[in-house]
Amino acid sequence: MMLGAVALLLSAALTVSQAEPVPVVLWHGMGDSCCNPLSMGSIKGLVEKKVGGGVYVKSLMIGNNIVEDTENGFLMNANDQVTNVCAQLKKDPKLQNGYNALGFSQGGQFLRAVAQRCPSPPMLNLISFGGQHQGVYGFPHCPGENQTLCDYVRKLLNIGAYISLTQAEYWHDPLNEAEYRQASVFLADINQEKAFNQTYKTNLLKLKNLVLVKFADDTMVDPKDSEWFGFYDEGQAVKVHNMTQSKLYQQDLLGLKELNESGRLALLASPGDHLQFTDAWFEANILKFLK
Ligand SMILES: *[C@@H]1O[C@H](CO)[C@@H](O)[C@H](O)[C@H]1NC(C)=O
Ligand SMILES: *[C@@H]1O[C@H](CO)[C@@H](O)[C@H](O)[C@H]1NC(C)=O
Ligand SMILES: *[C@@H]1O[C@H](CO)[C@@H](O)[C@H](O)[C@H]1NC(C)=O
Ligand SMILES: *[C@@H]1O[C@H](CO)[C@@H](O)[C@H](O)[C@H]1NC(C)=O
Repeated sequence: MMLGAVALLLSAALTVSQAEPVPVVLWHGMGDSCCNPLSMGSIKGLVEKKVGGGVYVKSLMIGNNIVEDTENGFLMNANDQVTNVCAQLKKDPKLQNGYNALGFSQGGQFLRAVAQRCPSPPMLNLISFGGQHQGVYGFPHCPGENQTLCDYVRKLLNIGAYISLTQAEYWHDPLNEAEYRQASVFLADINQEKAFNQTYKTNLLKLKNLVLVKFADDTMVDPKDSEWFGFYDEGQAVKVHNMTQSKLYQQDLLGLKELNESGRLALLASPGDHLQFTDAWFEANILKFLK
């Protein structure tokens, strides 16, 4: 009798622990690829080890091989990359019951576009590591070094930014918001700056959690507040507003406020520069969303 009950309990526990872990999709940043052993390869290994249970981890490749994947990260129109990924996710039989998504740098805002545009298969948790959700107005390592030089390069980039190849998709000039809204083919669209698209809000609200990781000492993203939906106030490039103070949040155009009020928005800070975090930090802060 006693033994029978114990056996029953044990088998119940086993059934629970044997439930298939939710698959994980990774989207790498610019200059990186799906399969670099030092970046996405090591993250894939970390997720496999910590989530366990033979979890299926798909590290997205945009193109037919690693070289194309890396080039496309720089050159391919962001909307086309998102469309490509939506198709990949739709046809992967292992993802059809839902998946958790981890985006690194631009992969963070690109996966948010996937959540907003392609609700099937369902994205469950979206974790953005250093994503530029309000874009960038600067270039790597600029803040803090030579301000004169920074401003000069910004001006050069501004001229060609919306039509040039790199950064075009999320270059955001606070000195000329009207042009940004008009010319930005990707970011202004997913941030409801062009027209309000109710589908984007409805779909983003399907997430269980939206987790935004900001790197406290980030020298690659200017302003780093963009990783939490903050950005420069209009008309200058010094003073920054945060998510709470943004129109996007206050008018709840994207569901960020509703996500927060239902306890599904997490703003996390990791010490260190862009995408630098330790396994211990990952385990303490991120793993709970993947288990
Ligand atoms: C809103 O977004 C959905 C999903 O991407 C798209 O199918 C639809 O055409 C968009 N609506 C407008 C008015 O742009
Ligand atoms: C910054 O760069 C400009 C242009 O190269 C140079 O003239 C200036 O001396 C530099 N300023 C500092 C503080 O290094
Ligand atoms: C934004 O700044 C305001 C004013 O300092 C503060 O009350 C609010 O908590 C901040 N929000 C975030 C998300 O940091
Ligand atoms: C989310 O809500 C909490 C508590 O209501 C508030 O303190 C926090 O500032 C909100 N987050 C944002 C981004 O406004």
